[in-house]
Amino acid sequence: MSKQPLIIFDTTLRDGEQSPGASMTKSEKVRIAKSLEKLGVDVIEAGFAIASQGDFEGVKAVAEKITNSRVCSLARANLVDIERAAEALKFAKSPRIHTFIATSPIHMKYKLKMEPEAVLAQAVKAVKHARKFTDDVEFSLEDASRSEFDFMRRIIEAVIDAGAGTINLPDTVGYSEPIEFGQMVGRVIQGVPNADKAIFSVHCHNDLGLAVANSLSAVINGARQVECTINGLGERAGNASLEEIVMAVRTRKDIFPVETGIVTQHIVPTSRLVASVTGFPVQPNKAIVGANAFAHESGIHQDGVLKHRETYEIMRAEDVGWNTNKLVLGKHSGRAAVKARFEALGISFDTSEGLNEAFVRFKELADKKHEIFDEDLQALVSDVHTVDTKESFRLESLEVTSKTGEKPVAWVSLWINGEVKTTSAEGSGPVDATYKAIDKLVNSKTLLQLYSVNAITSGTDSQGEVLVRLEKGGRIVNGLGADTDIVIASAKAYLNALNIMCSDKRVEHPQKSGV
Ligand code: KIV
Ligand code: ZN
Repeated sequence: MSKQPLIIFDTTLRDGEQSPGASMTKSEKVRIAKSLEKLGVDVIEAGFAIASQGDFEGVKAVAEKITNSRVCSLARANLVDIERAAEALKFAKSPRIHTFIATSPIHMKYKLKMEPEAVLAQAVKAVKHARKFTDDVEFSLEDASRSEFDFMRRIIEAVIDAGAGTINLPDTVGYSEPIEFGQMVGRVIQGVPNADKAIFSVHCHNDLGLAVANSLSAVINGARQVECTINGLGERAGNASLEEIVMAVRTRKDIFPVETGIVTQHIVPTSRLVASVTGFPVQPNKAIVGANAFAHESGIHQDGVLKHRETYEIMRAEDVGWNTNKLVLGKHSGRAAVKARFEALGISFDTSEGLNEAFVRFKELADKKHEIFDEDLQALVSDVHTVDTKESFRLESLEVTSKTGEKPVAWVSLWINGEVKTTSAEGSGPVDATYKAIDKLVNSKTLLQLYSVNAITSGTDSQGEVLVRLEKGGRIVNGLGADTDIVIASAKAYLNALNIMCSDKRVEHPQKSGV
């Protein structure tokens, strides 16, 4: 069967970033974008330029750095949003403006407070305006899966005439189910007279756990672009997972009439990078990228796999980038070797200071831990990369006593806006004592929503990576810290979250407030 291209549109940096606590700094966005480019995604949606100054800078930085993927910014269907997106994309090699407006009766009536005819007119005006800045304009009918068919048909025909080259049909609230959604997409494509002048795309949310199934059903019915995210990150229950869609299409070539340009061996490294930057860990039983996805526990399975791999395995672990966890570097490795390994992981540094700092940290780590794995390097840059988060607090020193039968005590010295302050506190455990001492100094009035520790690699000398989620006045941020000492890692993660809380003031997301 001859295959048609399936365009992979990654929205990890936009819809993925809309998950509470997943907001990324400019340098984090650039790092992930480079990894996505290496992965071979066709379009990178880098953000929502009008949402905040940080979003604008993020889109602009990605647009300036990426050459092999198209770079896209989201914009509501109004002139100001579109101009802001165009400005952020000014230096992109292949820019795309993605403009949207809601088309379902419930969204038009209650959110937009607009009549359908006014929505149609505004959509056409927005697409025409976007075309003044780029030939590559995508139009989304937000909440398409709950929109009326005849209205969708009319608006799509009109925006294609106005110059939209991609029409996206989102299941915004994750309400659809696969047969229904596929049929809706097929019916729209059949029913729009100028459908042959556009690529049809889908964008599915996972509220009922059906985002991937819905996307694949749409592909069978004619969609030729899917919007998805690494690890299925995204608002609420997330978006369709890129790795699952790509591997389904590749594994079931007999069913899907399409192929993607994804370099599948780079899936696991990209997944790890996104998990470590956002602080959203991957569940062990997650398809493709979960730690257990290729582990055969039962004796019968193991026996079968050893005799003939295909008895139980439908994909090869190495095809998606597993088994790359080999020993890479050690105490005697030089700067060039470290730099080369970072590059192999898709990590590059804009300035020689960035590389110097990473190299110093590498040497410190190699003194404590003989074998340095790829995961250690990823965690190490997660520490270095926080350069564009303004630092209000820094750990100067930490001492903890922990003894059977006695309450642990932590002595903490912090650098706070240029001044070093010290205190101590007792706690129910060493981490609790450390956090209480930090709180005495910082008085942050934040609520700890989540605390978790993961071993980055195997062995008791592994670095522990700590994730902390804090909430204050409805705002949620994640902080990460890694160290071979998990109490120090915990302190770093807490301070990282507090620094983000202090530095990045995000506004409410404009998608929620319509036009
Ligand atoms: O879920 C959605 O409808 C969206 C659109 C803006 C594409 O994210
Ligand atoms: Zn979405």
